[in-house]
Amino acid sequence: MSAVPNIDLNDGNTIPQLGFGVFQIDPSETAESVTEALRVGYRHIDTAEMYGNEREVGEGVRASGLDRGDVFITSKLNNSYHEPEDARRAFDETLSALGSDYVDLFLIHWPLPTLYDGDFVSTWKTMEEFKGDGRARSIGVSNFQIEHLERLAAETDTVPAVNQIEVHPYFTNDAVRSYGQEHGIATEAWSPIAQGGVLEDSTVTRIADRAGKTPAQVVLRWHIQRGDIVFPKSVTPSRMQENFEIFDFELNSTDMEEISDLHQDEHGRTGPHPDTFDKVPS
Ligand SMILES: NC(=O)c1ccc[n+]([C@@H]2O[C@H](COP(=O)([O-])OP(=O)(O)OC[C@H]3O[C@@H](n4cnc5c(N)ncnc54)[C@H](OP(=O)(O)O)[C@@H]3O)[C@@H](O)[C@H]2O)c1
Repeated sequence: MSAVPNIDLNDGNTIPQLGFGVFQIDPSETAESVTEALRVGYRHIDTAEMYGNEREVGEGVRASGLDRGDVFITSKLNNSYHEPEDARRAFDETLSALGSDYVDLFLIHWPLPTLYDGDFVSTWKTMEEFKGDGRARSIGVSNFQIEHLERLAAETDTVPAVNQIEVHPYFTNDAVRSYGQEHGIATEAWSPIAQGGVLEDSTVTRIADRAGKTPAQVVLRWHIQRGDIVFPKSVTPSRMQENFEIFDFELNSTDMEEISDLHQDEHGRTGPHPDTFDKVPS
């Protein structure tokens, strides 16, 4: 049995709390990285159409010899395709690239409130079709702020299963996380180690030394104990292994508080702000 806990989603499905992210993995390295991650024990892969490596994720899963049903795969809608007809075509292409007739979780990658007349609601209603026909087992959003989630609640029938947002010790994003907790939306924490940016922090290294663990293990453990879903990215097999070994120790409440206190408000954010981000691939 895997040490990785499953998190219950609001639609009755479950998701492994620890997965493997493939953002910025070159397509030429992706299949091998995914196969290695699955060998280590990961059973959850997080990709996106905009990462340009969905095809290679599918190849890596097939090369592992595991059954498709044993691996949880997430992908996300490209920012260029929020119009319903485009979203339908893009979703078909995601399934075709993955070489699968379903995806476990499909997300709106960014809300893009300054584009498409701010109409992510019709995009969400199109996502509901994918859930309805069973080709997306679960649907969710990414980078949605509270006001975006409130609009979905007011204008549509389906509560997103997850909201995938930037969360790490320098940017704890607690208001959006709390909204999710109150409304049954699981939080997925992207860039969980801030792309390495929190690993030399003296609070993190002191706790790691005491626990006999590495800084990355301590930070990932902090996420797990907060209840969030994480999928650190690495192309380095020893780090994939390291990041997987976080279920044999516990942080105490003082450790948890000290790490949470590293929050730097908006200064800690490393990615774009969801209210203004408007990048659309050409
Ligand atoms: N929805 C969104 O808008 C969004 C945005 C960003 C990310 N994401 C998702 O979240 C996933 C994770 O985020 P991320 O890739 O931005 O960053 P991350 O997982 O926080 O950090 C990845 C970086 O840390 C290094 N690293 C990994 N494990 C390490 C360890 N144990 N010790 C030292 N360095 C280590 C990796 O290097 P090497 O690879 O060289 O080993 C890589 O440079 C992505 O892959 C993607 O699936 C989603």
